Amino acid sequence: MFRYEVPEGAQLIRVWINGKEWQVPEGLTMVQAMWHTGHEVIHGIGCLGGVCGACAAVYRMPGDFHLYNALACQTLVKADMAFSLIASFPSQRANYNIETLPDPKEGLFELYPESATCRNCNACTEVCPQGIDVRDSVWRAVFGDFKTVTEETMSCVMCGLCVSRCIAEMAPHEIALYARRAYGARELPFPENLKVRLEAVHAGSYDADLDRLGGLDPNLLKKECETK
Ligand code: SF4
Ligand code: SF4
Ligand code: FES
Repeated sequence: MFRYEVPEGAQLIRVWINGKEWQVPEGLTMVQAMWHTGHEVIHGIGCLGGVCGACAAVYRMPGDFHLYNALACQTLVKADMAFSLIASFPSQRANYNIETLPDPKEGLFELYPESATCRNCNACTEVCPQGIDVRDSVWRAVFGDFKTVTEETMSCVMCGLCVSRCIAEMAPHEIALYARRAYGARELPFPENLKVRLEAVHAGSYDADLDRLGGLDPNLLKKECETK
């Protein structure tokens, strides 16, 4: 289990986890509070750094009708908070080769026809823990402005919370991913430094190193990684 420090002198506060009451030290994140209370959290946890988007959670505070959303590894528990991690929301991800699509702007409507049915409710934007204007990104994608979609959604962690709220049943994060790929592959010039590195890979410049690392005992490999 991941180790964490309980803040010195921390007071106990009451929280509800999955509907059950617990006392936990203040200053813990939601994930740490779950560990502290003996919950085995394996699925739905990844980086613990606010990057992977695996730990989407919902919570309520007493006397407040709002249902709030959070990344559980990044959000501290508060007294009387009631929260649960949520299962991932299934979303339809299209199969495509972005480099061979005849026209990526048209391709969006073939691969994600639902993208044109946005009802402008803004629920996706309100739920996004990264503060992305998700509604705007969907509209920009529909109008083929993939550059702006890329800029707007670069901090998306693919948590899927926007999917959970969309009344048009679309997956805005998949549409944004499509737009970013289309922009990167079809509108931007190929990065020169990447070209140089790929040529070196294909010329076998790293084969000897790879062979050596591949043959190392796991402990030696770990040591090697730690010293580099
Ligand atoms: S756009 Fe959607 S998937 Fe991306 S961070 Fe926001 S809510 Fe999560
Ligand atoms: S939640 Fe769905 S319908 Fe509402 S604004 Fe976002 S993409 Fe459009
Ligand atoms: S575990 Fe990766 S964002 Fe929380």
